[in-house]
Amino acid sequence: MQLPDFSCKGRVALVTGSARGIGLAMARTLAAAGAAVVIHDIEIDLAAAEAAAINAQGGRAIALGGDVTDLAVADELAARTKQALGDTDILINNASIQRHTPFLEATPEDMTRQLNANVLFVTRLTQCVVPAMEQKRWGRIINLGSIQGRNGNASMPAYAMSKAAMENLTRALGRHLATSNITVNCVAPGWFNTYRNRDHLKDQATIDEGGKHVPLGRIGRPEDCNGVALLLCSAAGDYITGQTIRVDGGMSA
Ligand SMILES: NC(=O)c1ccc[n+]([C@@H]2O[C@H](COP(=O)([O-])OP(=O)(O)OC[C@H]3O[C@@H](n4cnc5c(N)ncnc54)[C@H](O)[C@@H]3O)[C@@H](O)[C@H]2O)c1
Repeated sequence: MQLPDFSCKGRVALVTGSARGIGLAMARTLAAAGAAVVIHDIEIDLAAAEAAAINAQGGRAIALGGDVTDLAVADELAARTKQALGDTDILINNASIQRHTPFLEATPEDMTRQLNANVLFVTRLTQCVVPAMEQKRWGRIINLGSIQGRNGNASMPAYAMSKAAMENLTRALGRHLATSNITVNCVAPGWFNTYRNRDHLKDQATIDEGGKHVPLGRIGRPEDCNGVALLLCSAAGDYITGQTIRVDGGMSA
């Protein structure tokens, strides 16, 4: 019996916000599976160091900077990726802005910033890469959702709304782009020990305590999304589109 094909050889993968956390773990995985990857991040020095580490291990990576709150950066990012590595075959819309603000204190400016970064930037960057995918009749798009997108969260209303939008966009584009053999899926993490949660998950005791609220008994690690990402970006996932896959240790069950 032949095992499923998880290779990403010959593909160009652009992962936004990938100098750290879940994005970095997925980018490293795609590189290990043979893709040339763009480590994109607002922190260009960190992105450059991670790209260099992938190259030192025999992979292929470049680093690109740019702030996802600026929509013009989406066009630049797609163009610079094409110039350096070729058209984007795999897009992982991973970067997001997350602000904890009680509902009545959330200002239009702050909410606009989050919705720009988390929804409009994702939409624009996707528009930039889809035409070449359509021409090739092959493409893989992953949007990062969140457990907050399903549950809602009045302490981070704009963020939660933006993640609900990722699930909706995924369903719409999953159907719309299926005829071009482009799959679009949403990976929705639960509660992960990453940089954005550094103030909350500040020590091992807090991390262990947090794990008690998760059916599988622990907080997520950045690499917990790697398997799903590889499945969705390789031939093994060819027949999966328009789905939200929750990687949350059972929190949403
Ligand atoms: N960590 C969690 O518990 C969790 C839960 C659900 C969903 N998610 C989602 O998973 C994705 C990855 O989250 P993470 O926890 O790995 O994040 P993280 O905070 O570890 O890393 C995010 C990266 O994005 C970069 N970044 C921040 N602002 C940026 C900007 N304006 N422009 C460009 N890059 C910017 C940061 O420098 C950082 O390297 C996000 O979409 C997040 O919403 C995370």
